[in-house]
Amino acid sequence: MPVKIGPFTLNSRVYVPPMAGVTDVVFRDIVRRIDPDCMMSTEMVSSRALLAKPESRIMDLLPNEHPIGIQIFGHEPDVMAFAAQLAEKRGADFVDINMGCPVPKITKGKDGCALMREPELAREIISTVKSAVKIPVTVKFRLGWDDSNRNAVEFGEMVEESGASMVTVHGRTRAQLYSGTADWSAIAKVKAALSIPVFGNGDVFSPENALKLLEITGCDGVAVARGSLGNPWLIPRITKYLDTGILDEAPDDIEKLICAYLHSVGLVKYKGLRVGINESRRHTINYTKGISGAAPFRNRLTQALDLSAAADILAELALIVGGKEGVMRFLLCVEHNNFENGKHPGEGYGYREGGIQAPVDVRAVLPVAVP
Ligand SMILES: Cc1cc2nc3c(=O)[nH]c(=O)nc-3n(C[C@H](O)[C@H](O)[C@H](O)COP(=O)(O)O)c2cc1C
Repeated sequence: MPVKIGPFTLNSRVYVPPMAGVTDVVFRDIVRRIDPDCMMSTEMVSSRALLAKPESRIMDLLPNEHPIGIQIFGHEPDVMAFAAQLAEKRGADFVDINMGCPVPKITKGKDGCALMREPELAREIISTVKSAVKIPVTVKFRLGWDDSNRNAVEFGEMVEESGASMVTVHGRTRAQLYSGTADWSAIAKVKAALSIPVFGNGDVFSPENALKLLEITGCDGVAVARGSLGNPWLIPRITKYLDTGILDEAPDDIEKLICAYLHSVGLVKYKGLRVGINESRRHTINYTKGISGAAPFRNRLTQALDLSAAADILAELALIVGGKEGVMRFLLCVEHNNFENGKHPGEGYGYREGGIQAPVDVRAVLPVAVP
């Protein structure tokens, strides 16, 4: 049965939920290129901050990006309604309300998961937001504040009554943060109590995990956050496995290094050198996790000051993990990318003298026409 969120029907049961510092346009573009149908959301955006800066780039969407939600957080119903209207104007398919963030900086101001302790305020927020916009309103929450206050079922019922069109439930309490394991059987209870679609969330790191979560919870879909860090391929692998039972191979290490580089390029293009390079470091570290022999390179990558320094280090690593053929694949991609960005192939990619050199003339094998 296809999942419907308000008026729109999803072509995929896989959702990449909001991740602050991760699900920006650059990351989403990477995921969309390999899994165009999955549902995604922006990073959370402060409704209060939007009062002062309504054009916030956190709400930037890719052209023709669907299905996409913009997530807002806050606790003042009118301010949240204003933020939701901005999200609607920016072209979001749905507006998601954050009622699950456990971080003290957020919860101390009654935002995020603190709203699970204030169900009447949460109700007012949802209904005020709902009446301010035409797009569906969705809510993301946890199992409760702590073990003595696991109110996800009643909370979910209230969320549905208040007009939400879908919920995402992370199977941990606020007190757990990310410790222990997500309690999928507790998510199952929320799913059983609600009629709107429920996306189960927590600890899905493989296609098999995703299927297991859906079997245990009976949920309509699965939300995959940390599993996609440095591993965007997990999303299409899950989609395919759920749709067909076919388990695609994970990408090889060179593919990961190429994606790490392209992700960094995207961040620098979109956010500028200083911010882009800074943010790219944590992604690059994620892409190289699990690559044997990568530890010393990870340290060096945190020092890289520009794209060519990052490319240098990644190329050295490509040589170690993939030999000449591996580094060649990596360098071709760097050259190709530079070419697309207006640099003449062979002019160099900023490698320092004595740094890694392409073992063949890349111009001879470049997959684009060279003037
Ligand atoms: C780096 C990071 C940033 C996150 N930011 C948000 C956020 O902005 N809004 C939100 O509702 N949840 C946020 N989360 C929580 C995730 O959406 C998800 O609920 C949680 O990580 C559990 O799912 P997982 O086990 O698949 O990672 C964030 C998680 C991570 C790891």
